[in-house]
Amino acid sequence: MPPSDDEPELTANIFVILRDLIHERLGIYYDAEKRRLLAEKLAPYLGERGMKSFLDYYYLLKYGPGADEEWPNVVDALSVQETYFWREIGQIQALVDRLLPGIVAADPNRPVSIWCAACATGEEPLTIAMYLNEAGWFDRLPIKICASDASPAALIKARRGVYRDRSFRAIPGRLVEKYFTDVSGGRQIAPELHARIHWARANLTVAEEIAPFAASQIIFCRNVFIYFSEQMIARTVRRMAESMQRPGYLFVGAAESLLKISTDFELQEAGDAFVYALP
Ligand SMILES: C[S@@+](CC[C@H](N)C(=O)[O-])C[C@H]1O[C@@H](n2cnc3c(N)ncnc32)[C@H](O)[C@@H]1O
Repeated sequence: MPPSDDEPELTANIFVILRDLIHERLGIYYDAEKRRLLAEKLAPYLGERGMKSFLDYYYLLKYGPGADEEWPNVVDALSVQETYFWREIGQIQALVDRLLPGIVAADPNRPVSIWCAACATGEEPLTIAMYLNEAGWFDRLPIKICASDASPAALIKARRGVYRDRSFRAIPGRLVEKYFTDVSGGRQIAPELHARIHWARANLTVAEEIAPFAASQIIFCRNVFIYFSEQMIARTVRRMAESMQRPGYLFVGAAESLLKISTDFELQEAGDAFVYALP
């Protein structure tokens, strides 16, 4: 359907420069079929700024003034924050039950650090913390969990720690009872568990932003590479590999594969799950 008269049109030429700029800054790649989707997601911001053309918006993002303030809006508009507790739990089970004992055995005095690199609203790092707590790991050694995302809106929700029904579709009921309290607007995660996570904003495409977090033994970067180009996945994975500690393990989503994209890690089986390990 063509856009209506009062909606700005994203022409094919402007789509390409805008799409490439977004790809360069955020890694997210829009192919030509998604031109209308991109226009729909960004149109409200043009409206708010009284802009009639996507070219003006492109100039704002590329050259400013005000570009730094505008990019967080673009991230919020384009980011897909679908996530829930206990998602793809086999990998977390593999980490806690299979890999962690080996990591600790390799150097019993070294604290363990885990980074959730695209944590969205926080269900993934909180699931990891719950699973570690259930297995008694927090009593045994210092474990640092960092969780970051590029979306300011997602991080506001993660820091608040209140979740609605959709987040609870897979988590066992007894853990909901144990770790959550009913509050207005949803269920609140137990403050002691929530406080185990260090929340931060980091864009995966910016080397300096990810380097401090990537210096971990374990990285979860799940269900974000599906939105990235192969070139940007390869670059991100290379930077992670360069900063990680050994033994180092990277988990990507079940629908994601690095096999044709990167040789920085080796695919290994861990229990019922797959993990990319530093050679
Ligand atoms: C579908 S969620 C994945 C959440 C969680 N990892 C999971 O698997 O359930 C994808 C997240 O990636 C984030 N994201 C997209 N591009 C990013 C980038 N360049 N840097 C950091 N996060 C990004 C989005 O903001 C969104 O919250």
